Amino acid sequence: MTAQEIIKKYIKFFEERGHKQIANSSLIPENDPTTLFTSSGMQPLVPYLLGEVHPQGTRLVNSQDSFRSQDIEEIGDNRHQTFFRMMGNWSLGDYFKKEQLPWFFEFLTNELEIDPNKLYVSCFKGFNNIPKDTESEEVWKELFKSKNVNLTDRISFYGVDKNWWSRSGVPDNMPVGEPGGPDSEVFYDFNDPKIHGKSEFKNQKCHINCDCGRYMEIGNSVFMQYKKLQSGFADLPQKNVDFGGGLERLLAATENEQDVFKTSLYFPAIKKIEVLSGKKYEDENKLAMRVIADHLKASVFIILAGVRPSNKEQGYVLRRLLRRSVVKYHELTQNFTPINEFKEIIKKLLVIEEAVDPQKINKNRDFEVVLSVLTDELTRFGKSLDRGLKIIEKVEKLTGKEAFDLYQSSGFPVEITIELMSKKNQNINIDEFKKEFEKHKELSRTASSGMFKGGLANSGEQTVMGHTATHLLHRALKDVLGEKVSQAGSNITNERVRFDFTYDDKLTDEELKKIEKIVNGKIRENLKVSFEIMPLAKAKEMGAIGLFNEKYQDEVKVYTMEEERPSPDGSGLHRKQEAYSVEICGGPHVDFTGKLKRFRIIKQENIGHGLKRIYAKVG
Ligand code: SER
Repeated sequence: MTAQEIIKKYIKFFEERGHKQIANSSLIPENDPTTLFTSSGMQPLVPYLLGEVHPQGTRLVNSQDSFRSQDIEEIGDNRHQTFFRMMGNWSLGDYFKKEQLPWFFEFLTNELEIDPNKLYVSCFKGFNNIPKDTESEEVWKELFKSKNVNLTDRISFYGVDKNWWSRSGVPDNMPVGEPGGPDSEVFYDFNDPKIHGKSEFKNQKCHINCDCGRYMEIGNSVFMQYKKLQSGFADLPQKNVDFGGGLERLLAATENEQDVFKTSLYFPAIKKIEVLSGKKYEDENKLAMRVIADHLKASVFIILAGVRPSNKEQGYVLRRLLRRSVVKYHELTQNFTPINEFKEIIKKLLVIEEAVDPQKINKNRDFEVVLSVLTDELTRFGKSLDRGLKIIEKVEKLTGKEAFDLYQSSGFPVEITIELMSKKNQNINIDEFKKEFEKHKELSRTASSGMFKGGLANSGEQTVMGHTATHLLHRALKDVLGEKVSQAGSNITNERVRFDFTYDDKLTDEELKKIEKIVNGKIRENLKVSFEIMPLAKAKEMGAIGLFNEKYQDEVKVYTMEEERPSPDGSGLHRKQEAYSVEICGGPHVDFTGKLKRFRIIKQENIGHGLKRIYAKVG
């Protein structure tokens, strides 16, 4: 079974059970400043899990490109990747445990034809007032019994560290307002001596969650029913299901292949690395090859999402991925500038990816885009390496701190520093280096988790006001500069609104003032903000504007802002034809524009290629 077949089967399976397929959102979250990347299928759905109405209804399914940057340094085992595809299905206050668990079990055993004896599950053992999940336990018992599977050790219970899911982890780490809940995970057991020879786990006491690699988690059903309060939890207005399962792992289970990098999704690229490096995918080479395949694949997707290497945010992550790939390639081959070799590996990766998602990936077109970014960055990196080499050549000794500074200031890889210094019979104090490195890691972790803790995406009052402000700004920009202006992106934090749009010229002070005045006028008029769900064609007919580079679905949510007054024939409250702003958007929004109080443009920026950016404050 191919990866593409798994995606198709999964979508079809859930469509047959009343689900609507929703778009695979961009890897770079739109309007979610709390995180750098889309890291799960639920992320774009947070407002709907909290109760906002979704235009596609209450049963949703998709395959979502996801990226998890937290553990870049830790990639290298048999099952973790930074980029992966998450199969997801959701119930927004619709079905719950009794449907979700049997459906996923049926999907695994009937559609993917996985032997049910290979499956093990975990349930939540309870925490404070949140009870043990005996309901899921009962459902699982019946399911296993129905397939005559021995129940011994089949169902395990864990606490909040393993069987609780929220975007920020355990309950204590959740910001107020964040949704979360207990979950039930399914694991696949790879311990088959006939296939893997003598089990490397045989003499160890291992359990499904022990992380030794024998069991691989292949799906997680989160019962998202709570919202974090200042202390404790409240019930959400609806009980949701948020399921996510990694495509790469589902494929590993269907291929009964314990090493994800040996599945059809990676192995052609690994083989390419073998040929290019002249090394075998075994023992001490495995880690480097896994990192190269993983990081280059993730880089491809991040580049295609529009990110370019830089020292900030997503660009910095991309830079780290590419540079780390170079370091690992150097480990295998002593080659510092593997531009040609990476081209070959990327070509292979694109062939694999085009077969998985031909709608999104076009190997020839995308290769050109990736190639130019890659060549640029690797050439640049080559130059910093040269600079670092010159420094190392000159010095007799290097302290751990100096090695770290070299790494931090010019990205010079410490592995290479160590190697070169050892040629001079000098050992770097690694303890000292490690101390600096851990400090740095801790700082960047705090920075990225701080990013998340900074506020709950899409639902804080200030953020919601920011959303409404972008609609007013969008409309006002068109009013002042002409209809040709269109939104190219937006990013809203508690502090400010950032709005990108297409326009060639720098806006004059007068134009900026005019725009600000129009928006403030509409705030004073206290327009009513409301939405209606309608077919996309109708929305377009109504002249609804929106960020049209998104893949809209058949049914869309259209927000209008209009004066609330009776229509002339007395048949209704609003006169739609006079709506000031009509825009396709998922929401949420304030109910009246007056809530915004005041709108101020802080600055404009030219962000290149006929694109302008405006920063503004609301409130
Ligand atoms: N949100 C859960 C996860 O990421 C399930 O989709 O694992």
